[in-house]
Amino acid sequence: MRPLAMTAAAPLLETNNDTAPKSRERGRTSVLVVDDDRDMCELAEAGLGQRGYSVSWCLTPGEALTAIERDDFDVVLVDIHMEGMSGLELCREALAKRPDLVVVVMTGFGSLDHAIGAMRVGAYDFITKPVSIDALALTMGRAARHKTMTKELRWLRQHLGHKQLPNVVGDSPPMQHVADLVNRVAETDANVLVTGESGTGKELIARALHDRGGREGPFLAINCAAVPENLLESELFGHARGAFTDARAARSGLFVEANGGTLFLDEIGDMPLGMQAKLLRALQERKVRPLGTTHEVPFDARIIAATNRDLETEVAQGRFREDLYYRINVVRIDIPPLRARGNDILVLAQGFLERLAERSNKPVSGIGRLVAERLINYNWPGNVRELENCMERAIALAKFNEITPDDLPAKIRNYRPTEVFNLSEDPNELPSMKVVEERYIRKVLAAVSGNKTLAARVLGLDRRTLYRKLSRAN
Ligand SMILES: Nc1ncnc2c1ncn2[C@@H]1O[C@H](COP(=O)(O)OP(=O)(O)OP(=O)(O)O)[C@@H](O)[C@H]1O
Ligand SMILES: [Mg+2]
Repeated sequence: MRPLAMTAAAPLLETNNDTAPKSRERGRTSVLVVDDDRDMCELAEAGLGQRGYSVSWCLTPGEALTAIERDDFDVVLVDIHMEGMSGLELCREALAKRPDLVVVVMTGFGSLDHAIGAMRVGAYDFITKPVSIDALALTMGRAARHKTMTKELRWLRQHLGHKQLPNVVGDSPPMQHVADLVNRVAETDANVLVTGESGTGKELIARALHDRGGREGPFLAINCAAVPENLLESELFGHARGAFTDARAARSGLFVEANGGTLFLDEIGDMPLGMQAKLLRALQERKVRPLGTTHEVPFDARIIAATNRDLETEVAQGRFREDLYYRINVVRIDIPPLRARGNDILVLAQGFLERLAERSNKPVSGIGRLVAERLINYNWPGNVRELENCMERAIALAKFNEITPDDLPAKIRNYRPTEVFNLSEDPNELPSMKVVEERYIRKVLAAVSGNKTLAARVLGLDRRTLYRKLSRAN
């Protein structure tokens, strides 16, 4: 067995300046080696360096995560057995941070199950120790080509219009951001938490994630708020025959039924605390124990959770477990409220109009200017679902081939938005740009329920600029 390196004495990230003058040289494939065995790192550095790679290495997973966040390595080579965090955990965390990372793991001979575990969480390939430099160089070459091809594919997708998500209408800047996130994380196994007000399209986005991810298994959904607590456990984890009065036949439960696919845990913020503990255990161990049995069954479903509750507040008030919150919130997708999506409102309205008019056999084909104005001005507390209902009602009431304000519900027809630009005709009373800007920022903040990240996105500012402007206004 090779001696372990003294990690305490090792600098955060070392590069061999004798053979590779700069670790991130242009045009060279960059490799990060993570192994607590310094000899292995130096061997890989020398061998791959000679073959034209630019090699950096670190001795602990913690240092590796910092390096991965800071630099865009082409390939990361990870030893699966390390002290502290395991290589497998490192793979999971690194891929959650950078879903496009190409990870190759090194495992000891005879521990193939670790390699399989790593591939499950998204590693690209594995290589068994002891490693010969020729075999390592071959694997690195393949991994680097894979990275190049993935980059090209992403570029093509973005430039050939595949960016738009299936069935998701609207391309306002906040929705483009959502689509971008979905495209980036779809192919990983990272747990995703989808948040947003009621009716914003959380389930639609969860389905888009599943469709884009290319998983072959099913998309299964459960509404955790609608299933009574005593049934939730057997729904999720399954049960043996006779485990309880109504259990006439054994059932494997949604976690296992969604194998190879996605399990969507809707309204997770409403899950009772007792059940949260059991869910946490299942997610940590990637295994479930069906009710009335003593054996555990592994599962391979991607987990997407959704809620319209503010989970940070739920955690602070002791209604939601903090450890579970971190487990499900590896990647978070915030769906903006409809009122923050500008022109999407009209595009969605037109889409609903066409679909629903065809279904109801009415020749209604458009919305007039006055209706468009009302739809844009309204604040849509029920979001897209409310807009869909509003269009359905309008089509049913329409007397002409165009929707008129009379076909809208009174609360939308008569809605008066708070004026941002309440401008006087008198030049002496006209506000300065600074005042108008302040008012507009406050209006946007109110529209997105105080969510500063979202407000910054709507305003086209970065967060820091928004904070600066806000502190100046106070
Ligand atoms: N961007 C969109 N394009 C087209 N249809 C949409 C869009 N967003 C939402 N919808 C439609 O609006 C309705 C509500 O969407 P969905 O059920 O996904 O919302 P939700 O956020 O899960 O709501 P809730 O919090 O009430 O569960 C659905 O009929 C959905 O198809
Ligand atoms: Mg929903």
